[in-house]
Amino acid sequence: MIQIKTIEEYHLAYQKSKNNPNEFWEEIASEFVWKSKWTQVMEYDFLKGHSVWFKDAQLNITENCIDRHLAHNGTKIAIVWEPNNPSESGISLTYNELSLKVNQAAAILKKNGVKKGDRVCLYMGMIPELSIAMLACARIGAIHSVIFGGFSAQSIADRLIDAQASVIITCDGAFRGDKVIPLKSVVDDALNTYQLIDKVIVVARTHTPVSMIKGRDIWWKDELQELEKEGILFVEPEPMDAEDPLFILYTSGSTGKPKGVVHSSAGYMVWAHYTFVNVFQYESQYKHFCTADIGWITGHSYIVYGPLSAGATTVIFEGVPTWPDAGRLWDVVDKYQIDILYTAPTAIRTLMGAGLSFFSDKNLNSLKILGSVGEPINEEAWHWLDTHIGKGRCPIVDTWWQTETGGILISNLAGVTPSKPSFATIPLPGIFPILLDENGHEITEANITGHLYIKQSWPGIIRTTYNNHHRCVEAYFSTHKGYYFTGDGSFRDENGNYRITGRVDDVLNVSGHRIGTAELENAINSHAGVIESAVVAFPHAIKGQGIYAFVVVEDSQFTQEHSPLDIVATVSRLIGPIAKPDKIQIVKALPKTRSGKIMRRILRKIAEGELDSIGDTSTLLDPKVVEEIIQNVV
Ligand code: WTA
Repeated sequence: MIQIKTIEEYHLAYQKSKNNPNEFWEEIASEFVWKSKWTQVMEYDFLKGHSVWFKDAQLNITENCIDRHLAHNGTKIAIVWEPNNPSESGISLTYNELSLKVNQAAAILKKNGVKKGDRVCLYMGMIPELSIAMLACARIGAIHSVIFGGFSAQSIADRLIDAQASVIITCDGAFRGDKVIPLKSVVDDALNTYQLIDKVIVVARTHTPVSMIKGRDIWWKDELQELEKEGILFVEPEPMDAEDPLFILYTSGSTGKPKGVVHSSAGYMVWAHYTFVNVFQYESQYKHFCTADIGWITGHSYIVYGPLSAGATTVIFEGVPTWPDAGRLWDVVDKYQIDILYTAPTAIRTLMGAGLSFFSDKNLNSLKILGSVGEPINEEAWHWLDTHIGKGRCPIVDTWWQTETGGILISNLAGVTPSKPSFATIPLPGIFPILLDENGHEITEANITGHLYIKQSWPGIIRTTYNNHHRCVEAYFSTHKGYYFTGDGSFRDENGNYRITGRVDDVLNVSGHRIGTAELENAINSHAGVIESAVVAFPHAIKGQGIYAFVVVEDSQFTQEHSPLDIVATVSRLIGPIAKPDKIQIVKALPKTRSGKIMRRILRKIAEGELDSIGDTSTLLDPKVVEEIIQNVV
């Protein structure tokens, strides 16, 4: 485990990653188990969106996340699972037990015809079988594509079509707080649209009634029983090329449908590991609790691959922070004596709002490091976390990164480099950020905001968007040639600390979840009677950003006969409950320029309630439209 332990070491590592990147990364990569070594550490060409790391090397990530720990740490707990309902008992799996389960799951997949390179879609709740299924795919070289449980059947179908998946693993249902989500039934609806699925493997969790189609749908536990009869305990890990895809994860952008972000086998592993051990200053006795859902990149990198690659104990929590009450997370922390707690500003703000009574009886003394991810953390939430949870003695890391970056790019290193409330602070070794203005000129002055780009490749960078490299180049490498565009704005202070100010493209960040406005508008426009719509964000006390939709409908009867709630139902059906608009305003027309472009800037100001700064409306086709909208804000 190569760790930076002092600020001087950080500066040395940063300089080395700049001046001698080959040697720098070679040393870090040498710690892993490889089937054969690389011929070249890296090559990249941002003009083509091309990155190769550890060229020609062969490995299997599961040997690094599981097998290599067995000799010395086989009896160490790898996964702690805490169920939704505190009265149900949890499960702990040692590395030995995890190994057996992953091998068995790999055997199940093989038996059902899954081969190297096949795409396997996982639509599951937060149960150990989800990580086991991911690792089982990785063991046999299949590419997993996890879909968050808050997405609809239509969203699943879109992803299945794009990935041309052959197998789905799902659950009968998932528990989340006081709800049961009927996952299998949502999958069944998706499969009405996409029929190229060979097998649906179902894990029983909620015992919700499910329809099982003969020849297609099978129970995970039946398959396991078969294997046990046959005595299969081991599946040879498939040798993977360093650049073979490990997984696809769909994420929203500013245009069209979500993109399938593809991560590699070797570079992703090295990056998830390096960032995990350094940012959180992981030590071998630490228990790590990341509260994200595995359906997002944070769960992939910091519940599964990062911690397991380091031989850590990682917690999977099925429930929600507010059920049965707002003390639930703190109970989990105390129950397992958690050392590292990695969570999101939305969760922090929700728990802040619940009041202090929910943790007055909690101990929280095991905590050593706190982390935040997903959206800018406001100073109030930062101080609350510091005072009430960290009790002033736990460093807080504010980690900035993206689905496309594979792991953390900008963050302080816990207790090693200084923190600054609401700043992600400084880049990790190997990360060279640059701020550009709208014309692509570099901003070198301090205390100015610009658009955040990255100058050079790093091991965890997105390799392509599945089946469409052109889209990858367009989205990330074309805004200003030769740079990776993050889509975020950032302020940089005189000490080089970055404060991420939020998206500068048409992407919303709702409760830390990315939602493209184009995708939302397409969904709203599919609703009967809707002519057009424009979606913008407004500041939301808990979610960070809320969704405000301005909608033009066919006739004036619409608002009486149909409620905007019908539109919400359509969005929920087409994208999923996570994308439900918070506010819908039916308007006569949208403000447009004479050339027909929607003036979102004006709508944003209205949604933010900043009516004084709407600015000049005289260039609009019909300035009266704005007055009408202002009079009827919701
Ligand atoms: C935002 C999540 C401010 C940012 C890992 C980014 C943040 C998007 C932070 C990626 C942070 C993430 N401070 N903003 N610490 N972390 N973001 O792909 O806008 O779900 O572009 O990855 O979240 O979201 P994604």
